[in-house]
Amino acid sequence: MVKKVVTNVGQLVTPRGEQARSGEKMNRISILDDREILLEGGVIREIGKQGAFSRSLPEEVERIDAKGKPVLPGFVDPHTHFVFSGYRAEEFQARLEGKRYEEIAEEGGGIASSVRSNREASFSGLKEEAEGRLRSMVRFGVTSVEGKTGYGLDRETELKQLKVMTELDQETPVDISPTFLGAHSIPEKYANRREEYVDFVTEEVAPLAAERGAEFCDVFCDRGAFTVGESRKVLNRGKKLGLKPKIHADEIEATGGAKLAAEVDAISADHLLKASDEGLNRMKESSVIAVLLPITAFSLKESYARARYMIDHGLSVSLATDLNPGSCFSESIPLLFSLSTLYMEMTVEETITALTLNAAAAIDRADQVGTIESGKQGDFLILDAPNYQHLSYHMGVNLVERVVKRGETIWKKTGPNF
Ligand code: NIG
Ligand code: FE
Repeated sequence: MVKKVVTNVGQLVTPRGEQARSGEKMNRISILDDREILLEGGVIREIGKQGAFSRSLPEEVERIDAKGKPVLPGFVDPHTHFVFSGYRAEEFQARLEGKRYEEIAEEGGGIASSVRSNREASFSGLKEEAEGRLRSMVRFGVTSVEGKTGYGLDRETELKQLKVMTELDQETPVDISPTFLGAHSIPEKYANRREEYVDFVTEEVAPLAAERGAEFCDVFCDRGAFTVGESRKVLNRGKKLGLKPKIHADEIEATGGAKLAAEVDAISADHLLKASDEGLNRMKESSVIAVLLPITAFSLKESYARARYMIDHGLSVSLATDLNPGSCFSESIPLLFSLSTLYMEMTVEETITALTLNAAAAIDRADQVGTIESGKQGDFLILDAPNYQHLSYHMGVNLVERVVKRGETIWKKTGPNF
């Protein structure tokens, strides 16, 4: 198998383990100076001191020179809606002028607007747009991405979104974990027949999604979306089909999504802006990962999720962009970093754990990615910065210089021409 060495790693920064870290353990990451990483067949074999491998291996063995810079695990984005067609800039403009996100939805915009454009989009057009977004995510150091359906709400379009993801997973170096989100919104056609729509999603579409590569089942459980009862039905049916439950919970109102997440043993509960102490406590008892999406709160001008409280109370917290055309049109890891450390009072180390190991755990991949340790995939990034603290300190700037996936460089910053 092909060997490779990453030399001159100034700072090797990584959490450790194959499971989500909770509470104070989120802050404990390993920071080692002057290291080398030995890769074999795209997998991390060993970590050693500078010179440990490069001195003894023959010259033909490829070297990746980190030039004394920090190296971190590839970031994992465990909650996105990156497969969509059609933009909603006019809604954003209306929000800038004072309209509320919910008002826009009530007037036929919001998710319904994306549903219309996704139904119209050709498969190849949708795929091309999604691939462009993946490329943009990779520049920020993201090497694994979760993506959701949910802009189709009919059989054909839900499966079209899913197929975009399964094909891009095969054809690009990025690992994509597809989630079935048929229960994202009640489509117009079913406006007065909610129960029928839930039956349609659970009986007609979910089985096909499970068959065609979906790994998780998600539901938007909130005021104006699905009730706790409806969400329970969707997630339990998904479980029977082998789809691991995830949930958009307590974003707009504390309707009981966090508690339901615990009840159905969800792998994660996401958003949680309004989650109650009791809901969070139940999540902790059932080891449900809290996936927080601060760019959405920023974009909607809502209060941030209570990350500090969650970590101090022993939960596992992860972070994601929530990239989507409506409530959060951003795939920016630098922005996510700033909001996490400045406005959610997470430490830089906790933020790194949240975006690597805990994010990998939120998509059930923590045995393969999320840390730089022997046996894990060779997914990492080199930062153009003197140390990892610059991820928070140097605000809003992409510090990623090189992104490596399974030992192969998939993106590299090219310098200016002067
Ligand atoms: O995760 N919260 C629910 N749904 C999506 C956004 C939907 C949209 O506006 O298109 C979210 O934020
Ligand atoms: Fe979402």
